[in-house]
Amino acid sequence: MKRLNRGKRIGFIGCGNMGSAILCGVLGNKIARSRQVVIYDAAIAKARRLGRLCRVKVAKGNVDLVRRVDVVLLAIKPQDLLALSSELRTLDHSKKILLSILAGTPVKKLRYHLGVRWDIVRAMPNLGAQVGEAVTVVTGGSAQARHVGVTVFSGCGPVVSLHERYIDLVTAVSGSGPAYFFLLMELLMKFSQAQGLSKKVAKSLAVQTALGASTLAKKSRYTPGELRSMVTSKKGTTEAALKHLTKKGFGNIFSQAVGRALSRSRELSAR
Ligand SMILES: NC(=O)c1ccc[n+]([C@@H]2O[C@H](COP(=O)([O-])OP(=O)(O)OC[C@H]3O[C@@H](n4cnc5c(N)ncnc54)[C@H](OP(=O)(O)O)[C@@H]3O)[C@@H](O)[C@H]2O)c1
Repeated sequence: MKRLNRGKRIGFIGCGNMGSAILCGVLGNKIARSRQVVIYDAAIAKARRLGRLCRVKVAKGNVDLVRRVDVVLLAIKPQDLLALSSELRTLDHSKKILLSILAGTPVKKLRYHLGVRWDIVRAMPNLGAQVGEAVTVVTGGSAQARHVGVTVFSGCGPVVSLHERYIDLVTAVSGSGPAYFFLLMELLMKFSQAQGLSKKVAKSLAVQTALGASTLAKKSRYTPGELRSMVTSKKGTTEAALKHLTKKGFGNIFSQAVGRALSRSRELSAR
């Protein structure tokens, strides 16, 4: 695993679901030592709690944080960007690296709000970050800043570097993706419960099946499509289910659904 240069310090603005998950990945995988890290959150009690738990310093505010670090990981909600921009605009941030995970917020917009001298990398992780199993796409910034981005996000799973034109697609596929798989698990649970299984057993069957399929798909040399064919015996139960899905146009419906997520991401990015 890569490490953040020992001379560099990283600050986390926003310590909610994603900020705290990325922080845990960074510290847990020794990408940075706790003394290299400073955090801040508008909900100061949250920052102090996380600071105690992870043994990292808590800044007095965002200005104080930016002054103390070389790299800023921005993990606030997109709607809070305007308020942050008024705090940070006058600060000298030349040569500092900004890693932003704000959905629907292009590099151009970040630069407009936060100032032109930041070396900005935009990243799209997903909810898997909370268990170290995200996939993150990074884009923008100088080669050095992107290298720092890859290093930081590798604490939460694999990282892929892509051109920014793919970010809306990535948002629709892997950003929103966990919810698609949750829905499948939810529907499997609902069906088994309707047939008399307890919630606990139904959850175990659905979730462990998803985990097994995902782990196999990750480790196998076969593609998910090939694995599906391999487990679909002629005239068997799986074939009966999959034939029905095909007949009812599930593939088309699903493609259209992800297409809707893509359009929505484009709409949000254009605002
Ligand atoms: N969740 C996902 O799966 C996912 C995936 C990819 C990207 N993202 C992106 O990740 C970002 C964070 O999402 P999240 O779910 O972690 O949100 P969250 O749990 O609401 O965390 C954001 C934190 O930032 C704090 N905050 C707001 N304004 C601030 C400011 N000016 N300075 C310092 N802290 C401030 C908030 O405090 P208050 O609560 O007091 O406002 C909150 O504690 C979003 O931009 C989202 O688009 C999320």
